[in-house]
Amino acid sequence: MISGCGAFQGRRNIAAERVFRNQMMRAGWVWVLAVLGAAAPARTAPHTGGSSGAGYVGGDVCKTCHADIWMNFFKNPHYKSVASGREPPERTGCEACHGPAKAHVEARGGKTTIGRAFSRMEPKAVMEACLTCHAASFDKSNIRRSEHTLRDVTCINCHSIHHSPAPKFLLARKQNELCYTCHAAVRSQFEMPSRHRVNEGFLQCSDCHNPHGSMAATWSMGVGSHMVETALGTESPCLKCHVDKRGPFVFEHASVRVEGCQICHMPHGSTNAKLLRRPVVFTLCLECHNEGATGTRNQGVDLQSSRHNLLDPEFQKCTVCHVRIHGSNADPYFLR
Ligand code: HEC
Ligand code: HEC
Ligand code: HEC
Ligand code: HEC
Ligand code: HEC
Ligand code: HEC
Ligand code: HEC
Ligand code: HEC
Ligand code: HEC
Ligand code: HEC
Repeated sequence: MISGCGAFQGRRNIAAERVFRNQMMRAGWVWVLAVLGAAAPARTAPHTGGSSGAGYVGGDVCKTCHADIWMNFFKNPHYKSVASGREPPERTGCEACHGPAKAHVEARGGKTTIGRAFSRMEPKAVMEACLTCHAASFDKSNIRRSEHTLRDVTCINCHSIHHSPAPKFLLARKQNELCYTCHAAVRSQFEMPSRHRVNEGFLQCSDCHNPHGSMAATWSMGVGSHMVETALGTESPCLKCHVDKRGPFVFEHASVRVEGCQICHMPHGSTNAKLLRRPVVFTLCLECHNEGATGTRNQGVDLQSSRHNLLDPEFQKCTVCHVRIHGSNADPYFLR
């Protein structure tokens, strides 16, 4: 899937480059003219997209003063709006994000002269600017109420439109490093003896999280959603990879489906084998299968029958016998 994407992107770039070269030739002339006629650069500016209505001047004129940004823009996915030539001025190129720039060009620069100078904007305003086009991509992520948004972490904390070193998604840094700039403690969780190999590059945060937010799922996710990304609509993301745990099983272990994987496993890393929350398996089982309440049943959970002698070390290794602990199609006690 990843290599497929790359091939697609390659083709896209070749097409984009061709359009870009044409643009360059036109704009090159403009640039020369601008230098020659430096007294009135604004008047020599071309009008890409053919409109100067409502203060839009088109992106080519920006090159005179923002050459570095302009020269790299053809590689940007946002160049599509220029390449297509079909978008209205308020959705084309530079001005799609920065707003009408006529006043800015006439003033020969300045931060207060342009519609949207992001360095001067509140996080919420940045988000709304991006969402004018991207709202639809986030229909499942509840972005306005995500933990990040609520704490003023917004699009440009994670994405860099003009200076992204990452090949995909315009990330401000390589994904894991990006997340660790603010979540330093999580790095050490992925260094524990039993762990998902995120630091080694086999998985990434976004395999399980949606940094843009998530809806509460039907299965338990502890307190709050933790921006855990659900798979296939409502499933735990764990099942994307651990498909053998999906079921449905003839004999379900109720806790797997009801409370979710995290009731027994640490998702990031653990000092215990198999990412378990407890160092010894039976202490995990006894959290639920214990003698706390009445007789043989504790809040609806069966206790082990009397033939289980917990003083006998053999019986402490519950999963030696209950091998199909995630559910079984053959045995109600998960023995096979
Ligand atoms: C998809 C939205 C978007 C488009 C399209 C866009 N910009 Fe930007 N631009 C931004 C954001 C966001 C910032 C703030 C940078 C940051 O904080 O990472 C920015 C910053 C800038 C800056 C400030 C200096 C800098 O390096 O950050 C300049 C100058 C600029 N843009 C010019 C342009 C020009 C010229 C174009 C067209 C070739 C353009 N922009 C297209 C979103 C956009
Ligand atoms: C005549 C030169 C000139 C032209 C043409 C020009 N700019 Fe600028 N622009 C500047 C200067 C100078 C600054 C720096 C202001 C500062 O840092 O105080 C600036 C700053 C900016 C900023 C940064 C605001 C921030 O957040 O710091 C953006 C965005 C921007 N320009 C966009 C554009 C766009 C889009 C165009 C083309 C439509 C354009 N500029 C054309 C000179 C120009
Ligand atoms: C906390 C960091 C973070 C914030 C805040 C954030 N993003 Fe992202 N975004 C990411 C990461 C990481 C990816 C790559 C996800 C992946 O690998 O699947 C991504 C992917 C994307 C994508 C491409 C894939 C998709 O999901 O459609 C778009 C578009 C996008 N972000 C736009 C935005 C916009 C717009 C905002 C602000 C409203 C925003 N992002 C806020 C981290 C962030
Ligand atoms: C004028 C509409 C528009 C605005 C405003 C806009 N985008 Fe986009 N964005 C697009 C389009 C179109 C694409 C390309 C989608 C595609 O490739 O199909 C895109 C792609 C992206 C991607 C995905 C890059 C990838 O590699 O797939 C990210 C990330 C992104 N935008 C972030 C932002 C951020 C952050 C802002 C606000 C600063 C923003 N966009 C503002 C239209 C917009
Ligand atoms: C600019 C700082 C910043 C960046 C970058 C950042 N985060 Fe966050 N993140 C926060 C803040 C602040 C919170 C809310 C407070 C908290 O719970 O830690 C948060 C919350 C979260 C939560 C929810 C925590 C909870 O207890 O519910 C998750 C999950 C998360 N971030 C994942 C990520 C991922 C994945 C990335 C990288 C794609 C990322 N973050 C990048 C600052 C950041
Ligand atoms: C294998 C799936 C998975 C991966 C990969 C993953 N997470 Fe998580 N993460 C989870 C789950 C599930 C939770 C919720 C835990 C709970 O409900 O107790 C969580 C919780 C969190 C929290 C909130 C609780 C806490 O420990 O502070 C943060 C922050 C977080 N993850 C950040 C990250 C970052 C950053 C990365 C990447 C470096 C990452 N996660 C990678 C599954 C994952
Ligand atoms: C993107 C795929 C992916 C996702 C999503 C994922 N895992 Fe894993 N998991 C793996 C891989 C690969 C391994 C093999 C361990 C390794 O990296 O060497 C593994 C190993 C494990 C192990 C055994 C660890 C050991 O020490 O033997 C457990 C338990 C586990 N995962 C639970 C979970 C849980 C719980 C979730 C959801 C929070 C989850 N996984 C989500 C890919 C994934
Ligand atoms: C009731 C507690 C419990 C729940 C809930 C649970 N597990 Fe486990 N899981 C265990 C135990 C105990 C082991 C270790 C088995 C052993 O000792 O060999 C284990 C082992 C694993 C392993 C490694 C060995 C193997 O069978 O592949 C993976 C992967 C795993 N679990 C994934 C998951 C996933 C995914 C979920 C959620 C769908 C989940 N677990 C829910 C208790 C649980
Ligand atoms: C989070 C709570 C929880 C944990 C932890 C847990 N279980 Fe269960 N278990 C249940 C529930 C609930 C049922 C269904 C009981 C019922 O239907 O009365 C169940 C059912 C069973 C059954 C099927 C027989 C029956 O009574 O229906 C066995 C066997 C079992 N568990 C063994 C274990 C073992 C071994 C462990 C430790 C690896 C374990 N359980 C951990 C909650 C838990
Ligand atoms: C030596 C194998 C073995 C070990 C070790 C073992 N069990 Fe069992 N367990 C069984 C068998 C066989 C059954 C089937 C019913 C019976 O004979 O009690 C059973 C049944 C159960 C039941 C269902 C009780 C009922 O009457 O519905 C639970 C709950 C249970 N075991 C939990 C545990 C827990 C928790 C551990 C670890 C502390 C454990 N088992 C260790 C073999 C074992």
